[in-house]
Amino acid sequence: MTGLKIRRATEADAVPWTLLFDADGPRAEVEKYLVRGEQWLAEQAGKLVGQMVLMETRADTWEIMNIAVADARKGQGIGTAMLKKAKALSVQRGAHRLEVGTGNSSLRELAFYQRFGFRIVGVDFDFFVRRWGKVTKQGGIPLRDMIRMEMVLKAVS
Ligand SMILES: CC(C)(COP(=O)(O)OP(=O)(O)OC[C@H]1O[C@@H](n2cnc3c(N)ncnc32)[C@H](O)[C@@H]1OP(=O)(O)O)[C@@H](O)C(=O)NCCC(=O)NCCS
Repeated sequence: MTGLKIRRATEADAVPWTLLFDADGPRAEVEKYLVRGEQWLAEQAGKLVGQMVLMETRADTWEIMNIAVADARKGQGIGTAMLKKAKALSVQRGAHRLEVGTGNSSLRELAFYQRFGFRIVGVDFDFFVRRWGKVTKQGGIPLRDMIRMEMVLKAVS
């Protein structure tokens, strides 16, 4: 993708809360993985267009904890470019697995991850009911469960 730069966020960068909250919440939960994980920023012509948070969750496993693209730039390949970066970084770190979780009602996201090669490996039942204390709807579908997805990585030789 032309002119897209994906770089690790530094302490000098403002935390992109609008993007983080587009993908997840509430703030207290997001803050937990922001502290433990690493945030990467996608920029085009010096302008922030996306971000993701990666975290090592187990000895050989990294997870995409949060990923979001600015509204005006969605559907232009930036999210896929960030997935490629997440995969490359996980391979570099020697991980054997890259994981991600999304809502049962997030149909476009389910397509986005599977198109990239993630496979569904489980369901964390009522994850979002516990997280939000209520059931919301997306396109008429109750959001209750987290669909767990993973990609098995090949080690670099
Ligand atoms: C999901 C997301 C990161 C994808 O990034 P992107 O740059 O829009 O994705 P790409 O352009 O590489 O790929 C487009 C695909 O992403 C998916 N997608 C999900 N939500 C989308 C949206 N609001 N607009 C456009 N595409 C979206 C679709 O599968 C789309 O393919 P389609 O056009 O055939 O439907 C981005 O749309 C986003 O920020 N969504 C809101 C936050 C979110 O839900 N994050 C994931 C939480 S699990």
